[in-house]
Amino acid sequence: MRESTRLLLAWYDAERRILPWREDPTPYHVWLSEIMLQQTRVEAVKDYYARFLEALPDVAALAAADEDTYLKLWEGLGYYSRVRNLHKAAVVIMEEYGGVIPGTAKELQKLPGIGEYTAAAIASIAFGEPVSSVDGNLLRVFARRTLYRESVKDPAAKKAAFAYFMERMPEDRPGDYNQALMDLGATVCLPNGEPECFRCPWAALCEAHQQGAELEVPVVPAKKARRVEHRTVFRVHCGEELLLARRPDTGLLAGLYEFPNTEDGVSPETFLKELGLTAVSTFPLPAAKHIFTHVEWRMTGFDLEVETLDPVRDTDGLFVVHLSELEKYSIPSAFDAFKY
Ligand code: ADE
Repeated sequence: MRESTRLLLAWYDAERRILPWREDPTPYHVWLSEIMLQQTRVEAVKDYYARFLEALPDVAALAAADEDTYLKLWEGLGYYSRVRNLHKAAVVIMEEYGGVIPGTAKELQKLPGIGEYTAAAIASIAFGEPVSSVDGNLLRVFARRTLYRESVKDPAAKKAAFAYFMERMPEDRPGDYNQALMDLGATVCLPNGEPECFRCPWAALCEAHQQGAELEVPVVPAKKARRVEHRTVFRVHCGEELLLARRPDTGLLAGLYEFPNTEDGVSPETFLKELGLTAVSTFPLPAAKHIFTHVEWRMTGFDLEVETLDPVRDTDGLFVVHLSELEKYSIPSAFDAFKY
């Protein structure tokens, strides 16, 4: 084993983060954790991970779960296509793989929601396959370690990092090697100009550190500005009942429930009139915003008590829900400011 690899693994053995999925890294546990960790920080994932496993402890349970159940378990984590794909993949595993999660990166990648990175992470951590899982953390570590001055957003960077780490991959501990690099990136080789090189096992080997150029890499091209959408959210209720809408099956927050909302500029009166409803009271709710990957919602809202919700009971896409049943419906956290 190379000296640099030995140093990294020794650092990992002493400093690694204690994470629930590392304690019992079965394929199902590792798969679930890796899907949750896509786009989401470790701290935010921990509770969701425990709750999900408690409700759906294995592939068979996940495959058999209905949509409302798994969406509810994901509520607040965002990027809901992740859990839809997780469920789809569980069904495929039950039907085509005899209930056994496939054990190579190549096979894993055929399943919905599992891309190159995730396949490599699962294969290395759960099955010991020596394959590098290059994500943003590993790219940053690579760029600093080798003083890679090209854009890390370019596919060539990923290829170069993959080759670099594969050459140094220890045959006996591939999962630990990958996770050591993830931890190094997440806790030491930090982004945004804050690397803590004094804690890094590779400080003496790191080209960027040796040349005092830690802050010059990784090179990341400027992002496009997010589109801003102004929306008005209506919390319409009567007695113990509340009006919800279901979002379209494709696009942002596909298939989830929401408070009915419109582009800005639609008054509460116009909104209610179009639905044939009559307000008993109207009061404004505080403004809120929510940031998605490509769009930002700036929202204002109204609480509208209406005389009756009967005119909308059988309207397509609208649901009159009793407050005691509300928690069965997945309402994304974008609407948190408007929830009761
Ligand atoms: N991020 C994604 N997967 C991870 C893992 N297994 N350990 C730490 N951070 C991660």
